[in-house]
Amino acid sequence: MTNRPKVKLAPSILAADFSHLASQVKEAEAAGADRIHVDVMDGHFVPNISIGPPVIESLRPITELPLETHLMISEPNRYLEAFAEAGSDSLLVHVEGALHLHRTVHHIKSLGKGAGVVLNPATPAAAISEILPDVDQVLVMTVNPGFGGQKFIPSTLAKIAQLREMIESSGRLIELSVDGGIDCDSAPRVVAAGARVLVAGSSIFRVQEGVAVAMASLLSAAVGD
Ligand code: DX5
Ligand code: ZN
Repeated sequence: MTNRPKVKLAPSILAADFSHLASQVKEAEAAGADRIHVDVMDGHFVPNISIGPPVIESLRPITELPLETHLMISEPNRYLEAFAEAGSDSLLVHVEGALHLHRTVHHIKSLGKGAGVVLNPATPAAAISEILPDVDQVLVMTVNPGFGGQKFIPSTLAKIAQLREMIESSGRLIELSVDGGIDCDSAPRVVAAGARVLVAGSSIFRVQEGVAVAMASLLSAAVGD
């Protein structure tokens, strides 16, 4: 018998139907989502605008799942309190957008929240070698951030493998996640490279068969069932 890795799904509500957001989140929860991924975009750090703290505040009472907030914004330090107070359980900040990353990571921890760092496709793994022991999660962007529904970038696979090695040799329990273009084709590849949390929007919320079937297919593709 092969030892299958434990893979978690983090549905990204960016691809959900915002006119039925509560029921979409509940559907994902009932189908076994590990957490809900919330994409925050400011039209400055990325060329798109999405949602902010009020949406997180509205979602907080309707699900028991952790709310993971992916901050694609300039100067994330200025908004950490607001997102923490709105009900985020973890805050993920981009290496490229946080000039004083150490301060930002420790600010997040001082708020009692999980701290994650995010790398864009062109940012090398080595950019986080010093901060790695301080974080709970590393998120590898497998597309350029800003939009849902983009194509997976295969050159990120080598970086995922490199980060898996860095995490193993740190001896710490740090989650390795991927975000962007994750579907039944890319999922087994990122898992083979070492990712264990899959953020997915389109392949969960934009599938005709519905959220539950989409999540089951993605998970079985991911672990090679
Ligand atoms: C992209 C976002 C992603 C996005 C993924 O900037 O960070 O979380 O929702 O969407 P898909 O799964 O459609 O690529
Ligand atoms: Zn995201």
